[in-house]
Amino acid sequence: MSSKNAPLLQVIYVALLVYILVQIYLSGVFIVTDKKSMSNLENNEQYDSTKMYSQARLINMKMNRDNTDKSRDLEDTPERRNSPGVHSRHRKRYTRGSEFALNNLNTKRIEASNTDKVIKESNEPHNFKSHVQQTEISLPLVGRSKPISIETFPRELTFKYGAFNMAEPNCVDEEDLEKFRKHPLNVELMQQSAEQLRGVIRIIDNGIFNKSISRSNCGWKSPFDEIKSENLSSTAAVHVDILCPLIVPGGSSFQHFLDGILPKIVQALDLLRNKGVKILIPLSRDVIILEILEALGIGKDKILFHAGRIYAARKMIYTCITPPLHPTLWQNAHKLMNAPEKLPVPREEAYIILLTRKQSHNGGRNMLNQIEVLAFLEKRYRKDRVIVYPGRYNLTTSVSVFGRARVLIGVHGGALYNLNFASSDVSVVEILPSDGAGNPIPPGIAHSIFWSMCNMLNQSYWRIYNKAETRNGDVIVDLVKLDRVLDRIDQHF
Ligand SMILES: *[C@@H]1O[C@H](CO)[C@@H](O)[C@H](O)[C@H]1NC(C)=O
Ligand SMILES: *[C@@H]1O[C@H](CO)[C@@H](O)[C@H](O)[C@H]1NC(C)=O
Ligand SMILES: *[C@@H]1O[C@H](CO)[C@@H](O)[C@H](O)[C@H]1NC(C)=O
Ligand SMILES: *[C@@H]1O[C@H](CO)[C@@H](O)[C@H](O)[C@H]1NC(C)=O
Repeated sequence: MSSKNAPLLQVIYVALLVYILVQIYLSGVFIVTDKKSMSNLENNEQYDSTKMYSQARLINMKMNRDNTDKSRDLEDTPERRNSPGVHSRHRKRYTRGSEFALNNLNTKRIEASNTDKVIKESNEPHNFKSHVQQTEISLPLVGRSKPISIETFPRELTFKYGAFNMAEPNCVDEEDLEKFRKHPLNVELMQQSAEQLRGVIRIIDNGIFNKSISRSNCGWKSPFDEIKSENLSSTAAVHVDILCPLIVPGGSSFQHFLDGILPKIVQALDLLRNKGVKILIPLSRDVIILEILEALGIGKDKILFHAGRIYAARKMIYTCITPPLHPTLWQNAHKLMNAPEKLPVPREEAYIILLTRKQSHNGGRNMLNQIEVLAFLEKRYRKDRVIVYPGRYNLTTSVSVFGRARVLIGVHGGALYNLNFASSDVSVVEILPSDGAGNPIPPGIAHSIFWSMCNMLNQSYWRIYNKAETRNGDVIVDLVKLDRVLDRIDQHF
């Protein structure tokens, strides 16, 4: 080594040393803050929700940094996660809700049928068809004027939801319909297995929830061993009186709150309305989640954001086993969010809404000719009736704008979840980026979710298979096809 290089090397050493010190300092700060939040959580039984929120956010930031809380991407929606390996043919069953005091919830698909209730007090979850017994309780537990007392609730209630029909999408031509029919997931979703129509609510005394030992995703296939019954020392865990854990992957986003968490809440809502109940959910990324929960009577004081701790409760409510997609659950959720059942304005005054992916977290699937599409719509309909969705609304605005929609048009993506605020008079046009054979692009997207949701809400669903221009699924919207779809919608809907 020549002495000429020595000063340069010294500079490098010093730079390295400074870098290492900064790193140690930074990680130290994170660890200290983290520990402080953790002990605050432990020592504070009466949670202040605002404080709780900022603490959870801090811990969440740390978790994100460590990359332990990877959010679920779009392809991982209930129907995909839950698609059964074995298809058992269902027997046709109908259910009827009890006489609901609140707004006649739950009357749509369940009229003129019998209540089918099963109660079970034993420990054999896999054998749920046995021990059939009639009771006064029917699921979903929603819409009663008073909560159902948890103290007298059976240890386990199993319920069979009614079978329902899935209608095929509306397509411009046979070719598109054939593309739809060819996909195995679509074929599978046209049928429901008995397992997919099963709901279970279990109450566990002295329950412990320890997410780190549970790899389950709080879905309808979850094993019951997610929650143990055991007494912990008072300092070892976050203690609450009654807790309902709903740790669904991706549940921090609006989309996966709607498809992963909300149906489970609806299944058990009248139980969750008991005094002292808290729900445990992933830290909400989107504020609208808290607004929806508020509308359901679950205020901020009843929400605990998961901070990776061990949670102990005198009574634990386990409601993860809920049908992944069921009209009763979705229509009740729809009503509870105050979304209108029918278009509240005359047809001519209703909106045509163009959904953009402006605020999307995933990128891709953009309309490359959005300006032309907008001009086309404004020419076809009155200009003041066409709305371009800006990417975010609060719950009130969502319900008032999407509730007045006659047509929603969008490329496959999270914005289409807003159909949940629209009435059953809406027509939803999903533009699905695909290759010539109809395979969705990118391949992993949950291509059947919006078709399924429209079926849940009895909305008219239209699919346009549109050639993808890029591997991200960017499209030049086929205006000829769109024109033909809108002709049919305007004639018939
Ligand atoms: C669904 O909507 C159609 C037409 O809007 C209506 O005739 C039908 O009764 C509805 N079905 C249910 C189950 O609500
Ligand atoms: C929770 O799970 C972790 C990871 O498996 C384990 O180390 C810990 O002992 C568990 N705690 C309780 C109270 O079960
Ligand atoms: C926990 O403690 C309660 C009250 O002290 C007791 O009744 C119960 O049996 C205990 N449960 C377990 C699983 O040890
Ligand atoms: C929702 O957003 C609208 C429009 O930005 C605003 O006027 C309204 O006050 C908001 N409502 C709530 C409850 O935040």
